Amino acid sequence: MPIQKNSTCGILTSGGDAPGLNAAIRAVARTAMDVYGIKIIGFEHGYRGLIENKSRVLEPSEFSGILTRGGTILGTSREKPFKDKNWCTETGGPCAVDRIKQTYRELGLDCLVILGGNGTNTTGAMLAREGLNIIGLPKTIDNDIVETDITFGFHTALTVATDAIDRLHSTASSHNRVMVIEVMGHKAGWLSLYSGVAGGGDVVLIPEIPYSVPNIARHLEKRAQDGKTFSIVVVAEGALSVEEAAMERKAFKKSRERMQLSIGYRVAQEIQEATGHESRVTVLGYLQRGGTPVAYDRVLASQFGAAAAKMVAEGDFGKMVAMKNEKIVSVPLDLVAGKIKTVPEGHYMIETARNVGTCLGD
Ligand code: F6P
Repeated sequence: MPIQKNSTCGILTSGGDAPGLNAAIRAVARTAMDVYGIKIIGFEHGYRGLIENKSRVLEPSEFSGILTRGGTILGTSREKPFKDKNWCTETGGPCAVDRIKQTYRELGLDCLVILGGNGTNTTGAMLAREGLNIIGLPKTIDNDIVETDITFGFHTALTVATDAIDRLHSTASSHNRVMVIEVMGHKAGWLSLYSGVAGGGDVVLIPEIPYSVPNIARHLEKRAQDGKTFSIVVVAEGALSVEEAAMERKAFKKSRERMQLSIGYRVAQEIQEATGHESRVTVLGYLQRGGTPVAYDRVLASQFGAAAAKMVAEGDFGKMVAMKNEKIVSVPLDLVAGKIKTVPEGHYMIETARNVGTCLGD
Protein backbone atom coordinates (compact mmCIF):
# COMPACT_ATOMS: atom_id res chain seq x y z
CA MET A 1 0.00 0.00 0.00
CA PRO A 2 1.48 3.42 -0.94
CA ILE A 3 2.49 5.43 2.11
CA GLN A 4 1.23 8.96 2.63
CA LYS A 5 3.04 12.25 2.17
CA ASN A 6 4.62 13.56 5.38
CA SER A 7 5.53 10.03 6.38
CA THR A 8 8.90 9.26 7.94
CA CYS A 9 11.59 6.91 6.73
CA GLY A 10 14.82 5.89 8.44
CA ILE A 11 18.12 5.28 6.67
CA LEU A 12 21.35 3.59 7.72
CA THR A 13 24.59 2.28 6.25
CA SER A 14 25.98 -0.96 7.63
CA GLY A 15 28.92 -3.34 7.06
CA GLY A 16 32.23 -2.41 5.44
CA ASP A 17 32.04 0.96 3.72
CA ALA A 18 32.15 1.24 -0.06
CA PRO A 19 32.60 4.16 -2.44
CA GLY A 20 29.18 5.40 -3.53
CA LEU A 21 27.43 5.20 -0.14
CA ASN A 22 27.12 8.98 0.11
CA ALA A 23 25.88 9.23 -3.46
CA ALA A 24 23.19 6.67 -2.59
CA ILE A 25 22.21 8.40 0.68
CA ARG A 26 21.92 11.68 -1.24
CA ALA A 27 19.76 10.11 -3.94
CA VAL A 28 17.44 8.38 -1.45
CA ALA A 29 17.03 11.53 0.64
CA ARG A 30 16.68 14.07 -2.15
CA THR A 31 14.15 11.96 -4.06
CA ALA A 32 12.21 11.07 -0.91
CA MET A 33 12.12 14.67 0.34
CA ASP A 34 11.81 16.70 -2.85
CA VAL A 35 9.72 14.37 -4.99
CA TYR A 36 7.60 12.55 -2.42
CA GLY A 37 7.63 14.86 0.64
CA ILE A 38 8.94 12.16 2.96
CA LYS A 39 10.94 13.01 6.10
CA ILE A 40 14.25 11.18 6.47
CA ILE A 41 15.89 10.17 9.76
CA GLY A 42 19.49 9.01 9.58
CA PHE A 43 20.89 6.43 12.03
CA GLU A 44 24.55 6.55 13.04
CA HIS A 45 26.87 3.57 12.62
CA GLY A 46 24.51 1.09 11.09
CA TYR A 47 22.27 -1.14 13.16
CA ARG A 48 24.00 0.06 16.32
CA GLY A 49 22.40 3.48 15.82
CA LEU A 50 19.03 1.81 15.44
CA ILE A 51 19.49 -0.27 18.60
CA GLU A 52 20.68 2.71 20.63
CA ASN A 53 18.46 5.25 18.87
CA LYS A 54 21.36 7.43 17.80
CA SER A 55 19.60 9.32 15.06
CA ARG A 56 18.92 12.74 13.59
CA VAL A 57 16.47 14.22 11.13
CA LEU A 58 18.49 14.76 7.96
CA GLU A 59 18.42 18.29 6.54
CA PRO A 60 18.82 19.05 2.82
CA SER A 61 22.08 20.93 3.56
CA GLU A 62 23.68 17.62 4.62
CA PHE A 63 23.48 16.29 1.06
CA SER A 64 25.37 19.12 -0.58
CA GLY A 65 28.85 18.19 -1.73
CA ILE A 66 28.68 14.53 -0.71
CA LEU A 67 28.16 12.93 -4.14
CA THR A 68 31.90 12.60 -4.71
CA ARG A 69 32.89 11.80 -1.15
CA GLY A 70 34.08 8.33 -0.06
CA GLY A 71 32.94 6.69 3.18
CA THR A 72 29.51 7.38 4.64
CA ILE A 73 28.26 10.53 6.37
CA LEU A 74 26.18 8.28 8.63
CA GLY A 75 29.08 6.11 9.77
CA THR A 76 28.91 2.33 9.75
CA SER A 77 29.53 -0.74 11.90
CA ARG A 78 29.39 -4.51 11.49
CA GLU A 79 26.68 -4.97 14.12
CA LYS A 80 24.48 -8.05 13.56
CA PRO A 81 21.50 -7.72 15.91
CA PHE A 82 20.27 -11.27 15.27
CA LYS A 83 23.62 -12.95 15.86
CA ASP A 84 22.90 -14.24 19.39
CA LYS A 85 19.57 -16.00 19.25
CA ASN A 86 19.31 -17.07 22.87
CA TRP A 87 20.78 -14.37 25.02
CA CYS A 88 20.94 -10.61 25.16
CA THR A 89 24.12 -8.66 24.68
CA GLU A 90 24.63 -4.92 24.21
CA THR A 91 24.06 -5.15 20.48
CA GLY A 92 22.81 -8.66 19.80
CA GLY A 93 20.05 -11.09 20.62
CA PRO A 94 16.36 -10.65 21.40
CA CYS A 95 16.94 -7.46 23.44
CA ALA A 96 18.65 -5.78 20.51
CA VAL A 97 15.83 -6.75 18.16
CA ASP A 98 13.27 -5.47 20.69
CA ARG A 99 15.17 -2.21 20.99
CA ILE A 100 15.19 -1.84 17.22
CA LYS A 101 11.43 -2.31 17.14
CA GLN A 102 11.07 0.17 19.98
CA THR A 103 13.17 2.80 18.17
CA TYR A 104 11.16 2.22 15.00
CA ARG A 105 7.90 2.72 16.93
CA GLU A 106 9.06 5.67 19.04
CA LEU A 107 10.30 7.63 16.04
CA GLY A 108 7.10 6.85 14.17
CA LEU A 109 8.96 5.32 11.25
CA ASP A 110 6.94 4.13 8.29
CA CYS A 111 9.93 2.37 6.77
CA LEU A 112 13.68 1.86 6.93
CA VAL A 113 16.16 1.95 4.04
CA ILE A 114 19.29 -0.09 4.68
CA LEU A 115 22.45 0.28 2.60
CA GLY A 116 24.83 -2.64 2.86
CA GLY A 117 26.18 -5.97 1.76
CA ASN A 118 25.16 -9.57 2.41
CA GLY A 119 25.01 -9.31 6.20
CA THR A 120 23.10 -6.04 6.14
CA ASN A 121 20.48 -7.28 3.70
CA THR A 122 20.16 -10.58 5.59
CA THR A 123 19.45 -8.61 8.77
CA GLY A 124 17.03 -6.50 6.72
CA ALA A 125 15.14 -9.63 5.67
CA MET A 126 14.91 -10.74 9.31
CA LEU A 127 13.63 -7.33 10.40
CA ALA A 128 11.05 -7.49 7.62
CA ARG A 129 9.90 -10.83 9.07
CA GLU A 130 9.53 -9.03 12.42
CA GLY A 131 7.03 -6.69 10.75
CA LEU A 132 9.24 -3.68 9.85
CA ASN A 133 8.96 -2.08 6.40
CA ILE A 134 12.44 -2.56 4.96
CA ILE A 135 14.06 -1.63 1.65
CA GLY A 136 17.63 -2.74 0.93
CA LEU A 137 20.32 -1.32 -1.35
CA PRO A 138 23.22 -3.50 -2.52
CA LYS A 139 26.65 -2.03 -1.78
CA THR A 140 29.98 -3.79 -1.59
CA ILE A 141 33.31 -3.67 -3.33
CA ASP A 142 33.14 -7.48 -3.48
CA ASN A 143 30.16 -7.57 -5.89
CA ASP A 144 29.01 -10.73 -4.13
CA ILE A 145 25.32 -10.03 -3.51
CA VAL A 146 22.91 -12.40 -5.23
CA GLU A 147 19.92 -11.25 -7.31
CA THR A 148 21.78 -8.21 -8.67
CA ASP A 149 24.22 -8.06 -11.56
CA ILE A 150 26.30 -5.40 -9.87
CA THR A 151 26.77 -3.60 -6.55
CA PHE A 152 28.04 -0.05 -6.10
CA GLY A 153 31.61 0.25 -4.88
CA PHE A 154 32.86 -2.57 -7.08
CA HIS A 155 33.94 -0.42 -10.02
CA THR A 156 35.89 1.98 -7.81
CA ALA A 157 37.74 -0.87 -6.10
CA LEU A 158 38.35 -2.41 -9.51
CA THR A 159 39.88 0.84 -10.76
CA VAL A 160 42.14 1.11 -7.70
CA ALA A 161 43.26 -2.53 -7.97
CA THR A 162 43.88 -2.22 -11.71
CA ASP A 163 45.90 0.94 -11.22
CA ALA A 164 48.00 -0.85 -8.58
CA ILE A 165 48.64 -3.78 -10.93
CA ASP A 166 49.62 -1.34 -13.68
CA ARG A 167 52.11 0.30 -11.34
CA LEU A 168 53.59 -3.02 -10.28
CA HIS A 169 54.46 -3.85 -13.89
CA SER A 170 57.30 -1.35 -14.20
CA THR A 171 58.96 -2.23 -10.92
CA ALA A 172 58.47 -5.98 -11.59
CA SER A 173 60.14 -5.62 -14.96
CA SER A 174 63.01 -3.47 -13.62
CA HIS A 175 63.91 -6.12 -11.04
CA ASN A 176 62.90 -9.27 -12.93
CA ARG A 177 60.63 -10.23 -10.08
CA VAL A 178 57.38 -12.02 -9.45
CA MET A 179 55.02 -9.46 -7.96
CA VAL A 180 52.16 -10.89 -5.91
CA ILE A 181 49.29 -8.51 -5.26
CA GLU A 182 46.58 -9.45 -2.78
CA VAL A 183 43.15 -7.90 -3.35
CA MET A 184 40.00 -8.10 -1.24
CA GLY A 185 37.39 -10.84 -1.56
CA HIS A 186 37.18 -13.54 1.10
CA LYS A 187 34.55 -15.73 -0.51
CA ALA A 188 34.17 -14.32 -4.02
CA GLY A 189 36.81 -13.66 -6.63
CA TRP A 190 35.08 -10.97 -8.71
CA LEU A 191 37.52 -8.21 -7.80
CA SER A 192 40.65 -10.27 -8.35
CA LEU A 193 39.34 -11.79 -11.58
CA TYR A 194 38.26 -8.46 -13.11
CA SER A 195 41.33 -6.52 -11.96
CA GLY A 196 43.54 -9.41 -13.04
CA VAL A 197 42.11 -9.30 -16.54
CA ALA A 198 42.09 -5.48 -16.65
CA GLY A 199 45.69 -5.26 -15.42
CA GLY A 200 47.02 -8.18 -17.45
CA GLY A 201 47.81 -10.41 -14.47
CA ASP A 202 49.75 -13.52 -15.50
CA VAL A 203 48.27 -15.60 -12.70
CA VAL A 204 44.96 -14.90 -10.95
CA LEU A 205 43.93 -16.93 -7.92
CA ILE A 206 40.31 -16.78 -6.77
CA PRO A 207 38.51 -18.62 -3.93
CA GLU A 208 36.29 -20.45 -6.41
CA ILE A 209 39.22 -22.20 -8.16
CA PRO A 210 41.65 -23.92 -5.78
CA TYR A 211 45.24 -23.46 -6.96
CA SER A 212 48.09 -25.90 -7.33
CA VAL A 213 51.63 -24.58 -6.84
CA PRO A 214 53.15 -26.90 -9.53
CA ASN A 215 50.64 -25.55 -12.08
CA ILE A 216 51.50 -21.94 -11.24
CA ALA A 217 55.22 -22.75 -11.34
CA ARG A 218 54.83 -24.40 -14.78
CA HIS A 219 53.08 -21.31 -16.12
CA LEU A 220 55.73 -18.97 -14.76
CA GLU A 221 58.55 -21.17 -16.09
CA LYS A 222 56.94 -21.15 -19.52
CA ARG A 223 56.83 -17.35 -19.38
CA ALA A 224 60.51 -17.28 -18.45
CA GLN A 225 61.33 -19.59 -21.36
CA ASP A 226 59.41 -17.24 -23.64
CA GLY A 227 61.71 -14.44 -22.55
CA LYS A 228 59.35 -12.78 -20.07
CA THR A 229 61.52 -11.55 -17.24
CA PHE A 230 58.80 -10.82 -14.70
CA SER A 231 55.29 -11.91 -13.71
CA ILE A 232 52.28 -10.46 -11.95
CA VAL A 233 50.22 -12.71 -9.68
CA VAL A 234 46.84 -11.43 -8.44
CA VAL A 235 45.58 -13.24 -5.34
CA ALA A 236 42.15 -12.87 -3.73
CA GLU A 237 42.38 -12.78 0.05
CA GLY A 238 40.20 -15.90 0.13
CA ALA A 239 42.28 -17.91 -2.35
CA LEU A 240 43.03 -21.48 -1.30
CA SER A 241 45.12 -24.41 -2.49
CA VAL A 242 43.77 -27.73 -3.78
CA GLU A 243 45.07 -29.32 -0.59
CA GLU A 244 43.06 -26.85 1.50
CA ALA A 245 39.97 -27.34 -0.65
CA ALA A 246 40.09 -31.06 0.21
CA MET A 247 40.14 -30.35 3.96
CA GLU A 248 37.12 -30.45 6.25
CA ARG A 249 35.84 -26.97 7.07
CA LYS A 250 37.01 -27.10 10.70
CA ALA A 251 40.50 -28.28 9.82
CA PHE A 252 40.77 -25.64 7.13
CA LYS A 253 39.72 -22.88 9.55
CA LYS A 254 42.24 -24.08 12.11
CA SER A 255 45.09 -24.17 9.63
CA ARG A 256 44.19 -20.65 8.46
CA GLU A 257 44.20 -19.42 12.05
CA ARG A 258 47.77 -20.69 12.33
CA MET A 259 48.80 -18.66 9.26
CA GLN A 260 50.57 -15.58 10.56
CA LEU A 261 50.50 -13.53 7.39
CA SER A 262 47.79 -13.21 4.76
CA ILE A 263 47.54 -15.53 1.77
CA GLY A 264 49.52 -13.27 -0.59
CA TYR A 265 52.67 -13.84 1.50
CA ARG A 266 52.21 -17.59 1.44
CA VAL A 267 51.68 -17.66 -2.31
CA ALA A 268 54.82 -15.53 -2.85
CA GLN A 269 56.85 -17.90 -0.71
CA GLU A 270 55.43 -20.95 -2.47
CA ILE A 271 56.28 -19.46 -5.86
CA GLN A 272 59.79 -18.49 -4.80
CA GLU A 273 60.45 -21.97 -3.42
CA ALA A 274 59.00 -23.71 -6.48
CA THR A 275 60.63 -21.55 -9.17
CA GLY A 276 63.57 -19.80 -7.55
CA HIS A 277 62.23 -16.49 -8.90
CA GLU A 278 62.52 -13.60 -6.50
CA SER A 279 59.01 -12.68 -5.30
CA ARG A 280 57.55 -9.66 -3.53
CA VAL A 281 54.14 -8.97 -2.02
CA THR A 282 51.76 -6.01 -2.05
CA VAL A 283 48.60 -6.19 0.06
CA LEU A 284 46.29 -3.54 -1.29
CA GLY A 285 43.95 -3.58 1.74
CA TYR A 286 41.67 -0.70 2.57
CA LEU A 287 42.91 1.52 -0.25
CA GLN A 288 40.37 -0.42 -2.29
CA ARG A 289 37.50 0.84 -0.17
CA GLY A 290 38.55 4.43 0.45
CA GLY A 291 38.31 7.61 -1.54
CA THR A 292 36.08 9.10 -4.15
CA PRO A 293 33.78 6.81 -6.16
CA VAL A 294 34.36 6.51 -9.90
CA ALA A 295 31.65 7.87 -12.20
CA TYR A 296 30.06 4.44 -12.70
CA ASP A 297 29.52 3.96 -8.96
CA ARG A 298 28.14 7.48 -8.53
CA VAL A 299 25.63 6.85 -11.29
CA LEU A 300 24.68 3.36 -10.05
CA ALA A 301 24.33 4.54 -6.44
CA SER A 302 22.17 7.47 -7.59
CA GLN A 303 19.97 5.16 -9.66
CA PHE A 304 19.59 2.70 -6.78
CA GLY A 305 18.92 5.52 -4.29
CA ALA A 306 16.26 7.20 -6.42
CA ALA A 307 14.61 3.81 -7.07
CA ALA A 308 14.61 3.04 -3.33
CA ALA A 309 12.82 6.35 -2.59
CA LYS A 310 10.20 5.49 -5.21
CA MET A 311 9.74 2.08 -3.57
CA VAL A 312 9.27 3.86 -0.24
CA ALA A 313 6.56 6.05 -1.76
CA GLU A 314 4.87 3.07 -3.39
CA GLY A 315 5.08 0.90 -0.29
CA ASP A 316 7.13 -1.74 -2.10
CA PHE A 317 8.67 -3.17 1.09
CA GLY A 318 10.61 -6.29 2.00
CA LYS A 319 12.65 -5.85 -1.18
CA MET A 320 16.15 -4.93 -2.30
CA VAL A 321 16.83 -2.64 -5.24
CA ALA A 322 18.82 -4.48 -7.89
CA MET A 323 20.21 -4.26 -11.41
CA LYS A 324 19.20 -7.05 -13.76
CA ASN A 325 19.96 -7.01 -17.47
CA GLU A 326 20.53 -3.24 -17.35
CA LYS A 327 17.19 -2.60 -15.67
CA ILE A 328 16.64 -1.35 -12.14
CA VAL A 329 14.30 -3.79 -10.44
CA SER A 330 13.31 -4.83 -6.90
CA VAL A 331 13.81 -8.35 -5.57
CA PRO A 332 12.49 -9.95 -2.36
CA LEU A 333 14.97 -9.63 0.51
CA ASP A 334 14.20 -13.24 1.37
CA LEU A 335 15.87 -14.31 -1.88
CA VAL A 336 19.01 -12.36 -0.98
CA ALA A 337 19.29 -13.33 2.70
CA GLY A 338 22.09 -15.68 3.70
CA LYS A 339 23.51 -16.11 0.21
CA ILE A 340 26.75 -15.11 -1.47
CA LYS A 341 27.25 -14.65 -5.20
CA THR A 342 30.50 -16.37 -6.10
CA VAL A 343 31.99 -16.59 -9.58
CA PRO A 344 30.16 -19.52 -11.19
CA GLU A 345 32.03 -22.27 -13.00
CA GLY A 346 32.22 -21.48 -16.70
CA HIS A 347 31.49 -17.76 -16.19
CA TYR A 348 32.50 -15.75 -19.27
CA MET A 349 35.16 -13.86 -17.29
CA ILE A 350 36.87 -17.13 -16.42
CA GLU A 351 36.84 -18.03 -20.09
CA THR A 352 38.10 -14.56 -21.05
CA ALA A 353 40.96 -14.80 -18.54
CA ARG A 354 42.01 -18.19 -19.87
CA ASN A 355 41.70 -17.03 -23.49
CA VAL A 356 44.10 -14.15 -22.93
CA GLY A 357 46.65 -16.52 -21.40
CA THR A 358 46.03 -16.02 -17.68
CA CYS A 359 46.72 -18.99 -15.43
CA LEU A 360 44.01 -19.47 -12.82
CA GLY A 361 46.12 -21.84 -10.78
CA ASP A 362 44.27 -25.02 -11.77
O1 F6P B 1 33.49 -4.91 2.33
C1 F6P B 1 33.87 -6.24 2.09
C2 F6P B 1 35.29 -6.38 2.48
O2 F6P B 1 35.95 -5.38 1.82
C3 F6P B 1 35.96 -7.72 2.20
O3 F6P B 1 36.47 -7.89 0.91
C4 F6P B 1 37.02 -7.76 3.25
O4 F6P B 1 37.42 -9.04 3.52
C5 F6P B 1 36.34 -7.15 4.40
O5 F6P B 1 35.44 -6.20 3.86
C6 F6P B 1 37.24 -6.56 5.44
O6 F6P B 1 36.64 -5.49 6.10
P1 F6P B 1 36.69 -5.16 7.64
O7 F6P B 1 38.10 -5.27 8.08
O8 F6P B 1 36.14 -3.79 7.71
O9 F6P B 1 35.82 -6.15 8.34
